[in-house]
Amino acid sequence: MNTLDDLLAEGVRDRGVLVRVDLNVPLDGERITDDGRIRAALPTIQALSEAGARVVLTAHLGRPKGGPEPKYSLAPVAARLSELLSAPVRVVQLADGPPHMSPGQVVLVENIRFDPRETSKDEAERGALADELAALVAPDGAFVSDGFGVVHRKQASVYDVAKRLPAYAGGLVLSEVEVLRRLTGSPERPYAVVLGGSKVSDKLAVIDALLPRVDALLVGGGMCFTFLAAQGYGVGKSLLETDQIGTCRTLLESGKIVLPTDVVVADAFAADAATQTVAVDAIPDGWLGLDIGPDSVAAFAEVLGRAKTVFWNGPMGVFEMAPFAEGTRGVAQAIIDAAAFSVVGGGDSAAAVRALGLAEDGFSHISTGGGASLEFLEGKDLPGVAILES
Ligand code: 3PG
Ligand code: MG
Repeated sequence: MNTLDDLLAEGVRDRGVLVRVDLNVPLDGERITDDGRIRAALPTIQALSEAGARVVLTAHLGRPKGGPEPKYSLAPVAARLSELLSAPVRVVQLADGPPHMSPGQVVLVENIRFDPRETSKDEAERGALADELAALVAPDGAFVSDGFGVVHRKQASVYDVAKRLPAYAGGLVLSEVEVLRRLTGSPERPYAVVLGGSKVSDKLAVIDALLPRVDALLVGGGMCFTFLAAQGYGVGKSLLETDQIGTCRTLLESGKIVLPTDVVVADAFAADAATQTVAVDAIPDGWLGLDIGPDSVAAFAEVLGRAKTVFWNGPMGVFEMAPFAEGTRGVAQAIIDAAAFSVVGGGDSAAAVRALGLAEDGFSHISTGGGASLEFLEGKDLPGVAILES
């Protein structure tokens, strides 16, 4: 695999370099609520800019329906990028063709998913878009793939463009892949995985792949209620995927899944709802579980305290609302306190770490990829990485 260092050694002064980054950050209106992915993209951008490249960034934001939608414009992201780089970053339109740029300058192509060819299943359609992207850095351009969070997508700006330009792996992609290989190789034992998030159905593939490899799988978040239902408990109005109860029952036979023993329930999905902490066999009818309780945190912490390797994906509760943040905070703190090689995977869990004011350096690695890191752990080929290796 050719790397950014190889490209820098070749020399990039006044060469156009197209860089795929993942700037898909959470927004509240135009306000970026967590800029972790923008910060993670900086080293590669800075290295190329300082070496005198004309840096053309391409990225997506959200899932627009195949046409321009103002709420998914990358303009707020470009503004934040400008601040962090202390240099202007203007948003350019793909349709305007190659931008006029001086050496070291950085521009950001507007949300590439505004073009339906980006996510097309048709290779020729994606190829036509990739040709247009490659043309932005003609005639002697190069492609740097550094959007780790999107390498699991076979999309024009991630995959097809790498076939059209000399392609190099950026530092973020390299370091993410290196860390995740430690988890799929022979992780030091005990190996504990913490999974949260709302849906079991989204996580089934990774649970199947992980169960034979891990010593303990701790389950919290909305998905724990389907497991609790599989154990025969009533879960009130909590999130429940009834069609997954049978599957959860089978997964529980592994003996490796650790479920909460108590939960924080509320009478409504709201920060000011009435709340109580109850044992999992006493969830009142009509109430919904929005966090794991303190006994569960203690039980999870005990397992994590013995672990030598930990992977965590998905919050334990609705951490955005203060009454339901303690489960996520407690589990995150237990991972920080553990003497383990610890990896946080996923936009949400990484954002939770920062939103809760936890020490980011308390973890061995915080991945910028949610879906990408899960698919890696599932053992799937990541198209955006595979194409760099071919
Ligand atoms: C993400 O946030 O998961 C990545 O940026 C990829 O986005 P996607 O899931 O919409 O493809
Ligand atoms: Mg995703």
